[in-house]
Amino acid sequence: MNSPLRCLITAGPTREHLDPVRFLSNDSSGRMGYALAAAAVRRGWSVDLVSGPVALPPPPGATVHAVVSAEEMLRACEPAFAHCDLFIAVAAVADYRPGAASPDKAAKRAGPWRLELVPTVDVLRTLAARKRPGQIVVGFAAETGDLEARAARKREDKRLDWIVANDVGRPGLGMGASDNAVVLLGPAGVRYAFGPAPKAAVADFILDHVAGRTAG
Ligand code: CTP
Repeated sequence: MNSPLRCLITAGPTREHLDPVRFLSNDSSGRMGYALAAAAVRRGWSVDLVSGPVALPPPPGATVHAVVSAEEMLRACEPAFAHCDLFIAVAAVADYRPGAASPDKAAKRAGPWRLELVPTVDVLRTLAARKRPGQIVVGFAAETGDLEARAARKREDKRLDWIVANDVGRPGLGMGASDNAVVLLGPAGVRYAFGPAPKAAVADFILDHVAGRTAG
């Protein structure tokens, strides 16, 4: 019997703390990543889910690694990435963090608070650069305009097998919503569109197409 496919998924937002009680983050609910994890478990795959802070129950059968920051997300992914067959980066990783975080709660001040922000690590780009032959790497591109062209550029630039282009500007769909509409771009100009549909159905559509096909 074949051993089950090993799948690593990132999900949810990340947070970059300014001090113990304040942080930079985004609106991601984690629903798309959790739907993918649940769909992969239903297929009998072994699933590691590296998740930022979300209000969702852990998908039964998946191994959940709870993280907060981009750096923690990368560190939690590294061991699982080394022996996974499929990596799907769904997390909405905060792109910037404060140059200096305070260990104590910062007191309110009279004037403006000027923050210097520095880029966080790109989890997907870092891991895709370590891809082994046969491994499949899938990213998401959340865009509000010029959807497919931008997603196609990200796929090339981050050296991905597949990218899921996600129009986050459409009301009621995408980030935080229960439904999604996606365009999946793959090797040799392959393009599949799906939705609007519940995220569970979108998850099955993505897994149907990406499992077993690496970049050409
Ligand atoms: N991603 C990541 N680490 C980051 C930023 C993004 O792993 N620091 C991953 C996301 O999980 C997603 C993909 O990269 O799979 C694309 O994320 P997106 O935010 O659309 O693109 P960016 O690379 O951040 O580019 P931009 O914000 O300029 O559109």
